[in-house]
Amino acid sequence: METKLMVILNSETQTAAIASAVSLLRNGEIVAFPTETVYGLGADAFNAAAVEKIFAAKNRPTDNPLIVHIASYDQLESVVTRVPDTAQKLMQAFWPGPLSLVLSKQEKLPAITTGGLSTVVVRFPKHPVAQKLIAMLGTPIAAPSANLSGKVSPTVASHVYEDLSGRIPLIIDGGPVEYGLESTVVDCTTEPPVILRPGSITLEQLRSVIPEIEAAESDGPLRSPGMKYRHYSPTAPVVLFIGNPRKTAAAMERYQLEHKERTLGIIWHTGISPTARLQYRLSFEPDLASPKLFFALRSIDENHPDEILVQGFDQKQTGVAIMNRLRKAASTIIAV
Ligand code: TXA
Ligand code: MG
Repeated sequence: METKLMVILNSETQTAAIASAVSLLRNGEIVAFPTETVYGLGADAFNAAAVEKIFAAKNRPTDNPLIVHIASYDQLESVVTRVPDTAQKLMQAFWPGPLSLVLSKQEKLPAITTGGLSTVVVRFPKHPVAQKLIAMLGTPIAAPSANLSGKVSPTVASHVYEDLSGRIPLIIDGGPVEYGLESTVVDCTTEPPVILRPGSITLEQLRSVIPEIEAAESDGPLRSPGMKYRHYSPTAPVVLFIGNPRKTAAAMERYQLEHKERTLGIIWHTGISPTARLQYRLSFEPDLASPKLFFALRSIDENHPDEILVQGFDQKQTGVAIMNRLRKAASTIIAV
């Protein structure tokens, strides 16, 4: 299959790209499109055969359910049976935006979309292309991140192309995404609600609306099917350094000296003078670093280093989500 890339440069190219995507989706095809978090790979959420194509294109295990994206509150009613007060409050505060809510599923939503679960994760994205695409199609779009299963989520269209060219008919290129981390997932079927996946909407922000909200315990029972799979891994092993920036910087400098025979990639933010040819400097501020994190991992990985060293972030605000992804990406964690 040939993969077409349609770049959005102005309102005409946007209209053309969305029209092409809508016609493919109506024909039971799948398309990649930008959202404010990461690129998504979408299908009509009510078309089981189309949704199956997502799992095939990504090599995704079929027990790992998809997020259903909506562009109106009417569409919400078509996919969920009940909206608890807690969910209502979170929607008012954070929708449209990078927050996904677990709710009870409408029966007519196909089982393949939700991995056979009685719940569904719903998100109302704020990206204008995502919104217009869903609105024009007139039905919710089921979409995981547009990467091969197990790989780092794509934050630019070229990264979607690397993973999925030849496997999908269309990628809409809307430029780099705004947040660069997948949405925060909150389970609203329990009282109080529980955060299943940290993201750019932080625990502090969520607690400002629902003070009782809980963070899922990392060693507790699996609440989200996706949590059991290895995730976010570049091809090269990732060595993650955790501790205060002065100490991690010193440990990373030492590691470089001790492994001169290896080709190292280095992703860092503070206090290092990398001798490695492959290096990417992120902001020390998690909110500014997160949009570039996956881009940095993928860009360094493309140059085939033996290992990628990454300087950890403080576990505060968006730093919690960054460290959640980095821990999953890491083969080795060095705490200093
Ligand atoms: O930002 C995002 O959320 C992006 C963009 C495209 O919207 N999407 C995304 O989808 O990250 P995906 O499939 O890569 O991650 C969805 C996560 C998985 O960990 C999955 O297991 C979990 O949500 N999930 C889906 N349905 C669930 C359910 N009913 N109950 C609990 N967890 C669920
Ligand atoms: Mg994903």
